[in-house]
Amino acid sequence: MTAVAPQAETEGHLVEFDSVKLSFKGVVAVNQVSFHVDSGELFSIIGPNGAGKTSIFNCLSGLYKPQEGDIRWRGESILKLKPFQIAELGMGRTFQNIELFEHMTVLENLMTGRHIRMKGGVLANLVFAGKTKTEEIENRAKVEDIIDFLEIERWRKFPVGMMPYGMQKRVELGRALAMEPDLLLLDEPVAGMNLEETEDMARFILDIREELGITMILVEHDMALVMDIADRVMVLDFGQKIADGTPAEVQKNPDVIRAYLGEEFASDDLKEVERELEGDAIEAAEGS
Ligand SMILES: Nc1ncnc2c1ncn2[C@@H]1O[C@H](COP(=O)(O)OP(=O)(O)O)[C@@H](O)[C@H]1O
Ligand SMILES: [Mg+2]
Repeated sequence: MTAVAPQAETEGHLVEFDSVKLSFKGVVAVNQVSFHVDSGELFSIIGPNGAGKTSIFNCLSGLYKPQEGDIRWRGESILKLKPFQIAELGMGRTFQNIELFEHMTVLENLMTGRHIRMKGGVLANLVFAGKTKTEEIENRAKVEDIIDFLEIERWRKFPVGMMPYGMQKRVELGRALAMEPDLLLLDEPVAGMNLEETEDMARFILDIREELGITMILVEHDMALVMDIADRVMVLDFGQKIADGTPAEVQKNPDVIRAYLGEEFASDDLKEVERELEGDAIEAAEGS
C-alpha cells in the first residue's frame, strides 16, 4: 500500500463503460453504450429480453471483448485483461443461469470463491504447506461468515444440486461474496423466484450494500424490485441505451414506457404513465 492513492481513485469512477460496441456476426448486442458506476452505488440495468444486459456483464468481466470503446476500472483500461485477472482486481459476479458445482456442498462451492484470493497460486501453496494451512483456516472462517450472513447454516453440508432453486441462487451469491469483491455484478438474481424468495433476496442485496459496503450492478427483469432499491437505473433496448437516471426519472421517460409496452411485467407506475400518455394522445386526436 502506498501513502498516496492513485489519482484515478481519488477523482474517478470505480468502473467506466465508454462507447462500447459489441457485435456477433451482424447482431449488434451492445451499441455505443456508455455508463459509469461510483463506489457505494447500487446501479441497475434493465431492458427487455435480448437488450444486451448480460452481454454488458460479459464485457465487464472479460468474457466478451468489444470491437469498439473502452472499459476502465479505477481509471485503467481492462480490455486486455483475462477474466481471472479482472476477478482479481475485485469484480465478482453471479450468472443468469446458476453456475455452481452441483455435486459439491454449499461449503465447498463457497470455498471455490476463495481460491481467487489465494496468494502465490496453487504451486506455491503446495510448496509452502504451512502457509497453505493458515490460509485455508482463514478462508474457511470467511466462508462461515458468509454462510451466517446469508442464513444458509442448515444447508452447509448439502450438495447444491439437491437444494431448492431459490437457495441455489443464494449460494451463488455467497460464492461471489466469498471473493470479497469491490464490485458485484448480479445477473437477474430473483428470476424464477417466488415472492418470499424475492423479498429475501432484496433484503440481502440491501444488506450487502449497508453492511459490506459493496458496490453493485443489478441486472433485473423485476421492475418493482429495481425501482425500489436502485440508486440509478440505465435502460437498454436493442443494445442501445435509451435512458438513465433515478428510478423516478426513468419511470416517467416516454421512451422507456414505449420499450416496455406489451411487456406483462411493466410496473403499476409504468402502466399509470402509459395510461396518461394514451389519454394525451386521445385528447390530441380529438382536438385536431
Ligand atoms: N455468445 C453470443 N453469440 C451470439 N449472439 C449473442 C451471444 N451473446 C448474446 N448474443 C446476442 O446479443 C443480444 C443480446 O443478448 P443478451 O446480452 O443476452 O441480452 P439480455 O441479457 O438483455 O437478455 C441478443 O440478440 C443475443 O442473441
Ligand atoms: Mg440476460
